[in-house]
Amino acid sequence: MRKIIIDCDPGSDDAFALALAIKSNVFDIRGITIVEGNVSLEDCARNTFKILNLCGKDDIPVYKGLKSESNSSVDAMNVHGNNGLGGVEYEKIRRRVKSMSAIDYLIEEVNSNPKEITVIALGALTNIAAAIKKDKLFAKNVQELVIMGGSSKEGNITPVAEFNFYKDPVAADIVLKTKFESILVFGWNVTTTMPLLKKYEKKLYSSDKELPRFLYDITRSTAKHDKNAGYPAAIISDPITIAYLIDSRVARLRHANIKIDLTEENYGKSEVTYVDESNCRFAYMVDEERFYQILLENISK
Ligand code: BDR
Ligand code: CA
Repeated sequence: MRKIIIDCDPGSDDAFALALAIKSNVFDIRGITIVEGNVSLEDCARNTFKILNLCGKDDIPVYKGLKSESNSSVDAMNVHGNNGLGGVEYEKIRRRVKSMSAIDYLIEEVNSNPKEITVIALGALTNIAAAIKKDKLFAKNVQELVIMGGSSKEGNITPVAEFNFYKDPVAADIVLKTKFESILVFGWNVTTTMPLLKKYEKKLYSSDKELPRFLYDITRSTAKHDKNAGYPAAIISDPITIAYLIDSRVARLRHANIKIDLTEENYGKSEVTYVDESNCRFAYMVDEERFYQILLENISK
């Protein structure tokens, strides 16, 4: 079983990623670390507890991470609703985050399992950059870093920048300049080609299980926002990372070099070039049908 840590900011699409990782039963989920992003750290933690509870996995430890210093006032409530889960009210789960910080946890877990832990980053790269800065062995010891972020085409928070990289471009810059064994990046440009079309939504709301129906409800806000932005349906970016680790046929990647633009004009933009000197593998195609087959089958179990 692949050992993973999921660093996330739930977020309705993070919720799909968590649910897929748990329900697929093919991962050893060591822990979940929270980063500020779509909503506050507190709301992201609260939402994580709810999803874990719905998946019957209240025992996965959750660690609180950091707020971004670069674009501290940026959030995505206009996309994911005022609580991050589409504004859907739910009863609070009585759980607390662990006392250890997300940064110390990432460092300790990775360094005590050298080259065995895959870190999946579904939010701003604030926590990952902090772990890199705090411990020089951390990056070396990560088996693989899988990121949802950036775009080689249009952005979604500014015309040129994708949300996760824009939320903390300084962190994204640090991470992409650091040598890891392997970095995989799934950008907004590719996740927009796998919208949550009506035929897939139907499988969620007509399910006899609570989890798929809840996932449908929390994506109503995203669907509205993304349709207004010109997409055919809600874009649920984060679960592609997990689906790819389950079945690599869901996406095609190629070696690329990603550079983060830190100039005022293009702040947070990712410049993707396909050169020999690459710092990652970047997804350029997804198999929409295969992706939804994996996603829907697993979350409906
Ligand atoms: C990314 O930004 C967030 O709003 C989503 O959760 C996803 O991680 C998409 O750009
Ligand atoms: Ca996210």
